[in-house]
Amino acid sequence: MKVLTWIPATPEDAVPLAALFRHAEAIAPVGLEQRAEDVRTRLAGLGPDLARHSRVGLDDDGAVAAYAEVADMGVADGVLRIRLTGVAHPELAGDARAELYRWLTDRAERLRRAGGAAQAAVLGTRCAETDTAGCRLLTENGFTLVRHERDLVLAVSELPPAVALPPGLALAPVGERHQELARLAHNEAYAQSPSALRPDQRTWPQHATAHPRLLPDLSCLLLAEVSRDENPVAAFLFALADDDADEPTAILHCLGTRPSWRRRGLATAMIVRALHRARSAGFRRLRLQVSDTNQPALALYQRLGFTESGRGYAVLMRQLDGPTAE
Ligand SMILES: CC(C)(COP(=O)(O)OP(=O)(O)OC[C@H]1O[C@@H](n2cnc3c(N)ncnc32)[C@H](O)[C@@H]1OP(=O)(O)O)[C@@H](O)C(=O)NCCC(=O)NCCS
Repeated sequence: MKVLTWIPATPEDAVPLAALFRHAEAIAPVGLEQRAEDVRTRLAGLGPDLARHSRVGLDDDGAVAAYAEVADMGVADGVLRIRLTGVAHPELAGDARAELYRWLTDRAERLRRAGGAAQAAVLGTRCAETDTAGCRLLTENGFTLVRHERDLVLAVSELPPAVALPPGLALAPVGERHQELARLAHNEAYAQSPSALRPDQRTWPQHATAHPRLLPDLSCLLLAEVSRDENPVAAFLFALADDDADEPTAILHCLGTRPSWRRRGLATAMIVRALHRARSAGFRRLRLQVSDTNQPALALYQRLGFTESGRGYAVLMRQLDGPTAE
C-alpha cells in the first residue's frame, strides 16, 4: 500500500479517520480516538488551523491510509508546546512514516517561527511501547523518551465505603453554572503537569462540560462554602463513557484538586463517589491514564486499587530552540 495523495483534513474525514485510528490502535495503542464523533471533536479542536496543520494521506483506491497533525498546545514558561500526531495504516511501508514525520517537523518549525524568530518550542509525540520501529524512527530524528503514560483500570465490584467530605465543602454538579470557575480550577490544578491540556474559554466546553460522552452523574465539583479566594471550586472530576471498551467502562477523564486543598481526601472522595455511581449505572470498570512522572496521582490510584491494563504508551519530545540551534 502506498500514499499517493495528501490533502488537508476536513470535518468530513472523521468517519474514515476513525476507521484508520481503529486499525492503528489494534496493533500499537497510543490512545487515539476510535469513534467518528470523538475524531470530529479532535478536528474541531484545531479550529481555523485545521486546513494548515493537518493532512490526510489517500492510497491508490482513494481510501484514507495516513494522517498527520500539528497542534498548538499553548505557551508554558515561554516555550511553545506542539503536539505531533502521525498515524499510518499498518500496511503502509516505513518510508511513508518517515515522510509523515518530515512533514510534521516542517509544519512544527513553521508554527514556531509564527511565534517570532526566537520563540523556543518543544515537540511532543506518542509511540506505542510495542512499536519499536516507530520509536527508533523518532529517536533517529532527535526525539528522546520523556515518560510513559500508564493506562489503569479498576473493577467496579467490591466498593470501598463512601468517603465523607471535609467540613466546609459541598458537592455540585458540573454544568453551565460554574463553567468558567471550573475551567480556572482545572488549569490551576494542572499548571505543573507537562502533558496536560489547559483549555481556553473556547475549547473548555468540548474538553469537559459539553464533551459528547460526559457522564454528568459520575462527574462533580467540590465547592468551598467559604471561599479562600474568588474561586470556590476546590476540586473537580469529569467522567466520560468509554464506548470502545469490551465491557461497560467509565473513564476518569480529568480530575484535580487545587493546590491549597490537597491531601485532605478530596480526590479520594470524588473517585469513591464515582465508583458507587458507576456501579448503579451498570458500569463494570473505571479506567484512566496517568503519567509515570505523576507520583501523587499514581499513589492515589494505587491506594484505591487501580492496576495497569497494558495499553500504556511512551511520550517522546524534541526541542526546537530557535534559529541558532538549527
Ligand atoms: C493527584 C491529585 C488529584 C490528588 O488530589 P488530593 O485531593 O490531594 O488527593 P487525596 O487527598 O485524596 O489523596 C489520597 C492519597 O493519595 C496519595 N497522594 C496524594 N497526593 C500525594 C502526594 N503529593 N504525594 C504522595 N502521595 C500522595 C496519598 O496516599 C493520599 O493519602 P494521604 O494524604 O492520607 O497520604 C492532585 O495532586 C492534583 O490535582 N494533581 C494535579 C492534577 C493531576 O495530576 N490529576 C490527575 C491526573 S491523572
